[in-house]
Amino acid sequence: MRILFLGDVIGRAGREAAAAALPRLREALRIDMAVINGENASHGFGLAPDMAEALFAAGADAITLGNHAWDRKELMGYIANQPRLVRPLNFPPGTPGAGSAVVTLRDGRKALVVNAMGRLFMDAMDCPFRASAELLAKYRMGGPQTGGNVAAILVDFHAEATSEKMAYGHSFDGQVSLVVGTHTHCPSADHQVLPGGTAFQSDAGMCGDYDSVIGMAKEGAASRFWRKMPGERLAPADGEVTVCGTFVETDDATGLARRIEPIRQGGRLSQAMPKV
Ligand SMILES: [Fe+2]
Ligand SMILES: [Fe+2]
Repeated sequence: MRILFLGDVIGRAGREAAAAALPRLREALRIDMAVINGENASHGFGLAPDMAEALFAAGADAITLGNHAWDRKELMGYIANQPRLVRPLNFPPGTPGAGSAVVTLRDGRKALVVNAMGRLFMDAMDCPFRASAELLAKYRMGGPQTGGNVAAILVDFHAEATSEKMAYGHSFDGQVSLVVGTHTHCPSADHQVLPGGTAFQSDAGMCGDYDSVIGMAKEGAASRFWRKMPGERLAPADGEVTVCGTFVETDDATGLARRIEPIRQGGRLSQAMPKV
């Protein structure tokens, strides 16, 4: 299976670039499953239902979220009827939506998409490690011959600290196809297939303008560090977007990864495109 994951989509420029890139990358890389993180799609804060619909229409099989999940309050009602929109698994019980989804792909294969959130330098949450272990105990990758109930498992681990992300990747190595980090908005160069066969990258990067402070206009964002005054306005940077993500190829018999390659297209960052 060929999997495409795109990192946090920032504002209108990020949405437009991601919506244009999704069909193009699906075609060029012959993608079977595409997942995108939408937590910053609405002016940097949250995701509105019409924006989610546009990303699904552009070719996303699932959308993941993060700490900005509820910045657009309308999403709480929408998520109850849209199972392919996945919020962090380790929100407290009673939170709307679900932390995972079994997605049926265009060719009929099924894949599990999970979103979990780290706790280091983040808001207090239930334990993402225990919540993930409990969920993953219900799934096995591979075909019916090997007792599998999903062809692949993708986890978007939304966290600030690289240490927590690497610890998470190693904890579930061999149980899932891909653990990819989001939230820092900067693509990391540590993409690798871990010894047990799980593809890992501690951060996919964002779909946003990199002449910015993690996607937000640099002047307002920098002044927050110089002065501790209220009311410094944050708005998404609106220069050319780099679409950042990850490409993974898995073995259908096991669900485990054969390769992981970074994607960086457009904008200011050095360009990267997998060869297929
Ligand atoms: Fe983000
Ligand atoms: Fe985030």
